[in-house]
Amino acid sequence: MALLGCGVVGTEVVRLLNEQADDLAARVGAPLELAGIAVRRPDRVREGVDRELLTTDAQALVTRDDVDIVIEVIGGIEPARSLMLEAMKSGKSVITANKALLAEDGATLFAAAREYGADLYYEASVAGAIPLLRPLRESLVGDHVHRVLGIVNGTTNYILDQMDTHGAGFNDALEEAQSLGYAEADPTADVEGFDAAAKAAILAQLAFHTPVTAADVHREGITEVSAADIAGAKGMDCVVKLLAICERVPSADGHNGDGRNGRGVSVRVYPAMIPRSHPLASVREAYNAVFVEAKSAGSLMFYGAGAGGAPTASAVLGDLVAVARNVAGGTPGPVEVTYAELPVLPMGET
Ligand code: HSE
Repeated sequence: MALLGCGVVGTEVVRLLNEQADDLAARVGAPLELAGIAVRRPDRVREGVDRELLTTDAQALVTRDDVDIVIEVIGGIEPARSLMLEAMKSGKSVITANKALLAEDGATLFAAAREYGADLYYEASVAGAIPLLRPLRESLVGDHVHRVLGIVNGTTNYILDQMDTHGAGFNDALEEAQSLGYAEADPTADVEGFDAAAKAAILAQLAFHTPVTAADVHREGITEVSAADIAGAKGMDCVVKLLAICERVPSADGHNGDGRNGRGVSVRVYPAMIPRSHPLASVREAYNAVFVEAKSAGSLMFYGAGAGGAPTASAVLGDLVAVARNVAGGTPGPVEVTYAELPVLPMGET
């Protein structure tokens, strides 16, 4: 296999691949061998990473004959998209944590996976270590999901939590989140809500089987949330959280839960005051929590570490074992099918 990118998550993936090599080999039925790691700056010090594996030629790496699985943790749109498409075209399966790309142009990646019979797994793209996408893709695919709601950005939750519990200033809390490895390379993506909006688009697409992109998501970040807002919320026994809400909008006759799709879907991200008695209020630091409400399953809550190197690497390795088993068995896993074509309604119409 090949690794594209070796930052916070990539370094942790390499460390765990080495540390757990025997267990992973036993679970897959064959050793998992890292053929190369594509990086932009090979001179940077990366603890525990064999420098011999580093290359700046990602293009050559993804088409090598001794690579059958490509793990992409570079992030951003390009060159990640071209490299993943090239990999799939060359018969490789792909694992990615790239929420921005999946939310902007997932359709192109899914089409390539279908065309070339490749696996495309992306559990690490939403909510870090929490198994959330596989349940939506597989366990709940026979149900009718009404709503997905929760906290999907660890950095903003960390900032809001520090402001609430310690009276920290916004910038100090952001710096701490960065130093703990939670924030994106450009933290604007976190604090302006772009990261949460991308995750909401991915969740909505999986939950409702309809195309949703980040541009469809109503988005407000937390940069306007002041210490006075937090104090005001506290006075009302509430807490401020950045929520992602994806839901079906009922038709005029109220039907959206009996197999009919309703008027469309609404996908939005914004800071909201919630009562301290609500389970989401107790989600501290960089943790995430997501409720999935479905017709037959009822309300399910997913909770855990939503950001950081090790939790995200856990999700990558889970995908890796699944994909390696599929590759060994010659049978690719599920590929997304969007068929509903539901309108994504703007805020005013929901
Ligand atoms: N910056 C992201 C967050 C990382 O804070 O949630 C995990 O996707």
